[in-house]
Amino acid sequence: MIQTICVCGAGTMGSGIAQVAAMAGYTTLLYDVDAAMTQKARESIEKNLASLIEKKKISAEDQTAILARLSYWSGDGLADCRADLIIEAIVEKPGVKEALFMRLAEINGRQTIFASNTSSLSLTALAEKIPFPERFAGLHFFNPAPLMRLVEVVHTPLTSEETKAALTAAARQMGKTPVSCKDAPGFIVNHVARPYYLEALRLVEEEIADFSTIDRIMEATGFRMGPFRLMDLIGNDINYTVSCSVYEAMGRPQRLRPSPIQEAQVRQGALGRKTGKGYYRYEQ
Ligand SMILES: NC(=O)c1ccc[n+]([C@@H]2O[C@H](COP(=O)([O-])OP(=O)(O)OC[C@H]3O[C@@H](n4cnc5c(N)ncnc54)[C@H](O)[C@@H]3O)[C@@H](O)[C@H]2O)c1
Repeated sequence: MIQTICVCGAGTMGSGIAQVAAMAGYTTLLYDVDAAMTQKARESIEKNLASLIEKKKISAEDQTAILARLSYWSGDGLADCRADLIIEAIVEKPGVKEALFMRLAEINGRQTIFASNTSSLSLTALAEKIPFPERFAGLHFFNPAPLMRLVEVVHTPLTSEETKAALTAAARQMGKTPVSCKDAPGFIVNHVARPYYLEALRLVEEEIADFSTIDRIMEATGFRMGPFRLMDLIGNDINYTVSCSVYEAMGRPQRLRPSPIQEAQVRQGALGRKTGKGYYRYEQ
């Protein structure tokens, strides 16, 4: 039974997932290589909880209990990342993820379940490289993790039924709606949503419309966020990497070709909300 969760990576997703886990009653550890990121995550979680009190969604006692369940580690603190469930939410680079899982395997026992929050990397390829493929699957939260209800529970041919069931139960305990799917490029949502971003980027590339007009139109037709506002929320580095890996995994179809505009945004450090500048500017 899962009682403790360690979230590795305290960026946009890890911070939100740790908040959700602690709110669901799990003893939660949030780890990042970079101490500045764990500090930023701590501030963001504390701010979010204060806002939930203001909205009367949680009490002051709830807040105290949630904060008591959370601890933060950085740098060498990886050696203390032991838990019943590890949720990895670090950079979207297969080699870095693999190295982290190998290290976590040395530290953790034979019961620990390992999940990756990757948006687009092949979980099967990762599973084949690590020593516990039956205890490994995708647990794909959406951004912002505290608000979005959907979680994709992504299984590889090597994932055991017990692991699938434990992850589905944990997602439910976190108040989420788990949806089971097989490992495939982009899983369900990132596969379906890819053209939303790429077709909008083509319109800008071809100077048919500018990005704010496209956002305005899409929002006026009922989408909660236009494609450019949404890419800024996701992080343009993450969105570009996901576009590239889905494109490669699908055999490079022209319709899924990543846009040079995405590449330029990443090169310029215009990553979106997290850096204060993307297609739009944001207060930090
Ligand atoms: N941003 C989204 O909308 C979104 C949605 C769903 C899933 N994801 C996936 O979640 C993962 C994280 O994305 P993000 O947007 O939170 O990224 P991010 O850039 O905001 O944060 C990544 C964090 O990982 C840390 N990190 C890098 N290497 C590390 C290591 N070896 N050990 C520990 N920490 C390390 C970085 O310091 C950084 O804080 C990616 O796999 C991404 O595909 C992202």
